[in-house]
Amino acid sequence: MSRRRQIYEGKAKILYEGPEPGTLIQYFKDDATAFNAQKRGTINGKGVLNNRISEHIFTALATIGVPTHFIRRINMREQLIRQVEIVPIEVVIRNVAAGSLSKRLGIEEGTQLPRTIIEYYYKDDALGDPLIADEHIACFGWASQDEMNDIADMAIRVNDFMCGMFAAIGIRLVDFKLEFGRVWDGDFARIILADEISPDGCRLWDMKSNEKLDKDRFRQDLGGEAEAYQEVARRLGLLPEDGEENAVLDLDTHRKKRGK
Ligand code: TMP
Repeated sequence: MSRRRQIYEGKAKILYEGPEPGTLIQYFKDDATAFNAQKRGTINGKGVLNNRISEHIFTALATIGVPTHFIRRINMREQLIRQVEIVPIEVVIRNVAAGSLSKRLGIEEGTQLPRTIIEYYYKDDALGDPLIADEHIACFGWASQDEMNDIADMAIRVNDFMCGMFAAIGIRLVDFKLEFGRVWDGDFARIILADEISPDGCRLWDMKSNEKLDKDRFRQDLGGEAEAYQEVARRLGLLPEDGEENAVLDLDTHRKKRGK
């Protein structure tokens, strides 16, 4: 890894220069943060699971025509992606009231929303990623109106697809966060889905028990984070069958011991 030039290190991922111009390698760490990094920890094996889960979802989205930055998974913790210019907006899609929506507006957690809500947050750690309106995006030029139309259309398509995908494995997609990026084709910029989709940025509740299978286990000190992420991967069919559940993680441990 040290051979490669590091482009950026975020809270959960590192970006390295890719093998060809216009590509990057996205490395998934086990580090977990919450509340704008005021709470820090690690979730063992999280990076391996998120790499695999995100690969699965991005690949499926590509088959329904949603353009994404994902090219291919390279190994347990890395994937090859297209380099994009990240739009500095976190797009949150909500189907059920939870988290900051419940807190801000006093809506009881778990209330089914009569319609899907899309919210935008300005991606700026120093400001704590504040909630913003379309007007701010237009006023400060963070994205054009055409780009915002594309982003909202894609967010709804991703939501429809993921609601069905998770419902089929007994999971309620409460809310989730997306990030988008621009790729340039001469003077023309196109918006594609970027970042990752994993239990780090989704609220996933078991449909029968309402058990939380996502990063809220870490945020709220509920314990069992690694098991929850594994359960999501297992239900998606991404882990070996019973008795071999840890095979993926064990392999990663071996790799690290061998210094690869
Ligand atoms: P919120 O209810 O805290 O606003 O979070 C909404 C969704 O967005 C939830 O699924 C978690 C995800 N999220 C992130 O991925 N990154 C963040 O920094 C925050 C605040 C939320």
